Amino acid sequence: MNHISINEIKEWDRFYRGNFINCLSGFKPVSLIGTINQNAQPNLAIFSNIVHLGADPALIGFINRPLAAGSHSIGNIQAIQQYTINHISSSFIEKAHQTSAKYIAGVNEFDTTGLTAVFKNNFKAPFVAESKVQMALELVEIIPIKDNGTFLVIGALKDVFVDKKNILADGFLDIKKSGSIVSLGLDSYHTCNDGERYEYAKVDVEPTRKT
Ligand SMILES: Cc1cc2nc3c(=O)[nH]c(=O)nc-3n(C[C@H](O)[C@H](O)[C@H](O)COP(=O)(O)O)c2cc1C
Repeated sequence: MNHISINEIKEWDRFYRGNFINCLSGFKPVSLIGTINQNAQPNLAIFSNIVHLGADPALIGFINRPLAAGSHSIGNIQAIQQYTINHISSSFIEKAHQTSAKYIAGVNEFDTTGLTAVFKNNFKAPFVAESKVQMALELVEIIPIKDNGTFLVIGALKDVFVDKKNILADGFLDIKKSGSIVSLGLDSYHTCNDGERYEYAKVDVEPTRKT
């Protein structure tokens, strides 16, 4: 094992350093965030810094880069207060990745990538029809992170669209069955193997596999 100090990391080329640091937090959920602007133009972008913030109330957060690097999704969310999070399957990784390109404001990434926008349940923001796990969120709060100019965008879950056959008897949603992928860094996408589930851990009790 090699020791790498932050002083050494700071000397590295910007892109090399970015790739390295981006991998350190590990495999991440990766989804497409669907928004719409005040002129009814949809926007779609890929995000992987997505985090569960609590189940009751059901809150999901994501980190948005500084505005100079990515401003359309967060701008639309601020304006419309609604957005969707849509899991990515292996069948449309290329199209999903392409949404990270720096399109100018007002360009509809559904059109440029060939993904299908679908509107349902009177929700203003578009869902991705190809996605097998789709969520509708309403903006709760945007917290600026002063140290690096990023933002924590917090949304309240309103609706979920999934195949109920992938919800197990105890509520566990088996997203592997729906084909959801994970990502590493900013350019690597991975499919998942079957997981191992364990009973709730208790002090002084041996971990037990769920059957
Ligand atoms: C795999 C992957 C994951 C990404 N994750 C994030 C993320 O979590 N937060 C973010 O701000 N940008 C992320 N990006 C970059 C955005 O997709 C990119 O900046 C995009 O152009 C933003 O679009 P927008 O301006 O329409 O919001 C990611 C890109 C890739 C390829």
